[in-house]
Amino acid sequence: MPDPRPLPIPEWLDPSRVPVHVAVVMDGNGRWAKRQGLPRTDGHAAGEAALMDTTYGALSLGVQALTVYAFSTENWRRPADEVRYLMNFNRGLLERRSHELDDEGVRIVFSGRRDWRVPRQVLRRMDESRDLTARNRRMTLNIAFNYGGRAEIVDAVSRLVADGVSASGVSEKVIRQRLYHPELPDPDLVVRTSGEHRISNFLLWELAYAELVFTDVLWPDFRREDLFAAIGEFQQRERRFGGLDR
Ligand code: IPE
Ligand code: IPE
Ligand code: MG
Repeated sequence: MPDPRPLPIPEWLDPSRVPVHVAVVMDGNGRWAKRQGLPRTDGHAAGEAALMDTTYGALSLGVQALTVYAFSTENWRRPADEVRYLMNFNRGLLERRSHELDDEGVRIVFSGRRDWRVPRQVLRRMDESRDLTARNRRMTLNIAFNYGGRAEIVDAVSRLVADGVSASGVSEKVIRQRLYHPELPDPDLVVRTSGEHRISNFLLWELAYAELVFTDVLWPDFRREDLFAAIGEFQQRERRFGGLDR
């Protein structure tokens, strides 16, 4: 199925300064549902449309990588019913959407821990989506699932020790090489929805110099226009990376 809602790129966006990698904290599903008098889980379900429209928006701009925070290592603290719902929902989303994303040239990858808490059927579906789309090059959709920024660094250090790297051999480069997706450039822009102004253990290493954009829009209401607005804000920023402005 082609983009169901193709939109022209707004003229106020500079097509030559589109961020290469955008990361999104998809937050506010529970509050969205509560406002409509619905159970929290209906908010997660409504997030699917937001994810797909945002993905089409990113594709239309030529964004190379989109990382989305779907389930954190801390989200296991939620009631068992909600955790179970989120596991099934994410498995179902991959079942419903992998072929469509494949048709669009999207490579699906995952960041996070494959631990015993993630149901086997979910892991199997993740592997199938990854394998199905592995050769696509138009854009990478990196789904952060059972993801924690500290866990990612711990896992990298653990591999580094297992690889026998000596104390004097430790460098940013050898750590970075052991992150979940060293082939992806660091995000240029991170967007968090729902008015919360925090990182919540997302991409702690990779966000070192990312521009942060916060919006009050709740994730189920987020659409590509909101992504375009966030990128517009990004284009107003001056990135210095510790140096002086040009
Ligand atoms: C984000 O929405 C989705 C996940 C964290 C899985 P929330 O479920 O956190 O929604 P709020 O923040 O409670 O509104
Ligand atoms: C961050 O949202 C995690 C995801 C969006 C998956 P949370 O809702 O879990 O974060 P906190 O608890 O408000 O920091
Ligand atoms: Mg939340």
